[in-house]
Amino acid sequence: MSKIFYRLTSMSSNQIRNASISSSPLKVSEDVTTLKSWREIPGPPTLPIIGQLHNFLPGGSLFKLEGMGLYEQLYEKYGPVVRVNAVLKPDVLILFDAESIAKIFYGENRIPVRPAFFSMEYYRRYYKNKDPNKPTGLVTDQGYNWRQFRSKVGPALLMPKFVKLYSKTVDEVALETIARWRRVRDHNNMIRENFDREMNLWSLESIAVVALGTRLNSLDAELPKDSPVNRLIECAHDLLLIANELDYKPSLWKYYPTKMFKRAMKVYEDIDIITKHYIANATEKFKNNGKTGDEESILEKLLKIDEEVAHIMASDMLIAGVDTTSNTMLATMYLLAMNPEKQQKLREEVLSNDEKKPYLKACIKESMRLMPVVGLNFRETTRSYDILGYEVPKGMGVLFCHRLLSLLESNFPKAQQFIPERWIVDESDPMHNGSAHPFVHLPFGFGVRSCIGQRIAELEIETLLSRVVQNFNLEWVGPPPTVHSTHVNYVKGPYNFILNDIV
Ligand code: HEM
Repeated sequence: MSKIFYRLTSMSSNQIRNASISSSPLKVSEDVTTLKSWREIPGPPTLPIIGQLHNFLPGGSLFKLEGMGLYEQLYEKYGPVVRVNAVLKPDVLILFDAESIAKIFYGENRIPVRPAFFSMEYYRRYYKNKDPNKPTGLVTDQGYNWRQFRSKVGPALLMPKFVKLYSKTVDEVALETIARWRRVRDHNNMIRENFDREMNLWSLESIAVVALGTRLNSLDAELPKDSPVNRLIECAHDLLLIANELDYKPSLWKYYPTKMFKRAMKVYEDIDIITKHYIANATEKFKNNGKTGDEESILEKLLKIDEEVAHIMASDMLIAGVDTTSNTMLATMYLLAMNPEKQQKLREEVLSNDEKKPYLKACIKESMRLMPVVGLNFRETTRSYDILGYEVPKGMGVLFCHRLLSLLESNFPKAQQFIPERWIVDESDPMHNGSAHPFVHLPFGFGVRSCIGQRIAELEIETLLSRVVQNFNLEWVGPPPTVHSTHVNYVKGPYNFILNDIV
């Protein structure tokens, strides 16, 4: 039986609840001798050999459930900690308890392990005789490799003053996006079928400025089908869907190259080739631009650190920075269209001369609470924990279900309603968000492994959203959009927005 591990020397659980979120590691002490085994953690009933599979088959209580529906069922039936298993995969715990999430996040904050994108890792490590010892990037590396990589790229990507250098270009992209929507909308001022693609053009164009050091001009006109920009959008989108199939569903790609595996390798390779092509062009441009130190772009800074690191980081930005910002924009626009008085309040703030824009930030935060693009997070434990009286051993996968927690009335009053005010009202106001545990809602993750693109994403979304409400009065007609959950939550069409010009 494992013994005492770390000491929770300075904080009681109540203090943790009230602590502001910091990324310093917390020492955890546990007497695990009285704990129940992780095998006793509640979960769907198991059968010999097939485990819990029968629950997900026709006739099973979880048949056809996925995304939020599945998590809701698991929470309602089994409570705040649930153990699930999949065929050919180790068991995973699903946590619906903010205090326990805090415990693991703090406990794992030195070098957090978040295994994901296994097929992409395979591509970057082994495909076509690569050197398996080389770094594979933030998304796929773990342990000291990850830490080394993060410490190289972190300063360039996270310092507000470096991200601010992009304000003007990001605004140019936003204005071109608005102009394009005006061109492509129909006589009802709608872009019903392809609005997600339109949004992807914006997000790719914006992130490419940072990742590839160039404008792709994807918003100009109809792009030829075989243009690298089209292929890049296709790849960034396909990658998340393919990875979902290969990495999280039963698949035999580790034993032989399935059709999906071959498709994945082609996607990963194309992203590589296109990224290298654009970075080579940018490198030429940088040679004589005379910029030094703080004036240098993020890509220039990364190239100076290490060309390979710059290239991998650029690919990761394209992979992680297209569908995430697009779907956050779609969700926020939908919620504002459905809440015209909030939309008007936002418009007034945006049009005011006040430099600070608290309501703008609050609208985005509230949209990420209600319709988050990433509603879950994950860690693999590097030691054991006492989680609600069960011993959770080292090496166990733990899924944090923020999306469900953020929609519980016990965490946020009037939880199903879009109320941006909750993020800015005074503490004495009953709507103040302070009653929610700080680990309920963490849209960009937590600690040293949190989203490295947060500041860039916020700049992009705040800029486009400001331009949208300045230019359009948003309406939505007909049924609400559906949300399709894979790696990210996709807001699906038809997109019933009406983009009426503000006159
Ligand atoms: C609304 C937009 C976005 C959301 C909600 C989001 C959310 C997240 C979340 C939840 C994580 C996991 C953090 C953790 O494990 O604690 C993450 C990681 C990451 N994100 Fe984002 N993200 C967004 C946009 C972006 C953008 C624009 C980029 C590109 C610069 C980006 C690049 C990354 C990378 C590279 C990681 C892995 C970081 C690491 O493991 O060290 N994300 N993101």
